[in-house]
Order: sequence, then structure tokens, then C-alpha cells
Amino acid sequence: MTNYQEERVPIPTPWRLIRELRLKRPPWWMILALVIAVIATWIPLAMIYRARHEKSRLPRVHFIHDMDHQPRFGPQDPNPWFHDGRAMRLPIEGTIARGRLVSDQHLVLGYFTSDGTKASSVTEFAKELPESLRQDLESLVSRGENRYMVYCAVCHGILGKGDGVINQRAIELKEAKWVPATNLLTQMIRDRADGQLFQAISDGVRSMPSYGAQISVRDRWAIVAFLRKLQRENPVAEEPKLVSPPIDTPRNDQASPTEVPR
Ligand code: HEC
Repeated sequence: MTNYQEERVPIPTPWRLIRELRLKRPPWWMILALVIAVIATWIPLAMIYRARHEKSRLPRVHFIHDMDHQPRFGPQDPNPWFHDGRAMRLPIEGTIARGRLVSDQHLVLGYFTSDGTKASSVTEFAKELPESLRQDLESLVSRGENRYMVYCAVCHGILGKGDGVINQRAIELKEAKWVPATNLLTQMIRDRADGQLFQAISDGVRSMPSYGAQISVRDRWAIVAFLRKLQRENPVAEEPKLVSPPIDTPRNDQASPTEVPR
């Protein structure tokens, strides 16, 4: 049995090593150089810390450029190359934007014009749905119902009475500037041509926003077809009385307009 206690080798600490190897202390300049070198390694750390915590007017250092900076002209930039000084070129006269071709005024606009597509030259609204959509009226109406519930019912209500949830909420909050959504069952709206209802959806009416961008041409006509169904199946509604006070009149009933501070 070996006695481990006796054989144990002393742990070689640096000082013991120096003593046993008879190493001499390094010269003072070497120690100084080492200390300076160690302190020098802190400089990049300090610079990183500063860069992260200081505000600067200069752009960040950008090591890898990839294609971030390219010699090109942005929208609205000036460009002395062209005689009008603009980098953007006007489209060639007669250019039609994608999806904006009005091949059939009845189908795409819902009205007829005397001068191209200018709204100022409207001669009349289309009386009925376009011929091409009248073939399968049943599926058109059910598509219209689906789209109406998505886009219109929130304001105009499920039956078109102008009592959608948004309308109810606005009245609850006494929103002074709220214009109630039109009751679509009144005689006034029943007398409107199909094309005028279509145009109301496409372009909006006064305080109603336009839905031309969200709803396709066919779906807009489908909604019109569904509106007609709603009107056929429900009794004619009374013309509404003004519910909210007209804008700019004082809310307080006692105050007369002359007492309003200017
Ligand atoms: C954000 C609420 C809102 C939505 C959604 C909305 N409307 Fe309206 N709509 C209104 C308001 C408000 C008016 C009344 C505008 C006015 O008189 O200033 C109106 C008016 C109308 C009119 C009467 C236009 C006229 O000639 O007087 C029709 C028709 C109509 N909307 C159909 C629709 C259809 C169809 C949809 C769905 C595509 C729809 N609305 C979606 C708020 C809305």
C-alpha cells in the first residue's frame, strides 16, 4: 500500500515556479510594456461603448455595403439630364394604368359619358345591370349578399335600414359630426338607377368612403343586385328625420347661435 500522503507533489504556483526555475524578475520596461498593451486592449471596448451610447449626426459606420448605396434617382428627384429637370418621366400620352381600361362604360363605370371617362361629362346612369351579368342572376345575388355583409352591413345594417353597429355606436357616443348611413329601403334610394348605386359604391358619396379599390367590378354589381332584392322583400321605409344636430350649431339647447364665442 502506497502512502499518498508522502508522495504528494506540491502544487506549482507561479511564484514557486519562478523560484525553482530560478527565473529572474523581468526588467521593468517589459512589465511597463505589458501593462500598456493590456490597457490598450480596452480602447476598442471603450469606443464600442461610446458608439452605442452617444448620439451622432453622422450616419452609422457601414462596413458591408451590399447594394445599399446605388447611384440612382429616387421618386421626385431632380435630374439635370432632362430639359424639365425632373428624373421622373411623364407617361406617354394616352397611357392607361393597369386595370383602368374602361372597355365598357356600363360595366366599369355604371354611367355613360360624352367625353371619355371624365366624371364631369356624365350623361346618364345605367338603368339596369350590365347584360353580361344578368345571365346567372341567382348566384350573382348570393355573392352580393356575401359581399354586402362584409363591406356594407357594418354601417347600413343587415337589412339596409341604416342601423349597422357602427351607426348605433356613433349615436351612443353622441358623435356630433356623425352622418348616419342612409336607409337603403326608402323610396328615394329605390328610385335610383342601378348604375347610380354602383357608382356610389365605386366612388363613395359625400361622407361615405369609396369601395372601388376593395371590391371588384363584378362584386359591386352583385351588391347592387342584392340591394334590389332587399328592397323587393322589405316594406318601403320612411324618409329619415335629421337625428344628429347639424354641424356648427351649439349642443346646448339654451344657447342661441349669436352667443357662441368666436
Ligand atoms: C363607413 C360606413 C359606411 C359603409 C361601410 C358603407 N356606407 Fe353607404 N353610406 C354611408 C353614409 C354615411 C352615407 C350617407 C352619405 C351622405 O349622405 O353624406 C351612405 C350612403 C349610401 C348610399 C346612398 C347614396 C346616395 O345616392 O345618396 C348608398 C346607395 C350606399 N351608401 C350604399 C352602400 C353600399 C352598397 C355599401 C357597401 C359596399 C356601403 N354603402 C358601405 C356609410 C357607409
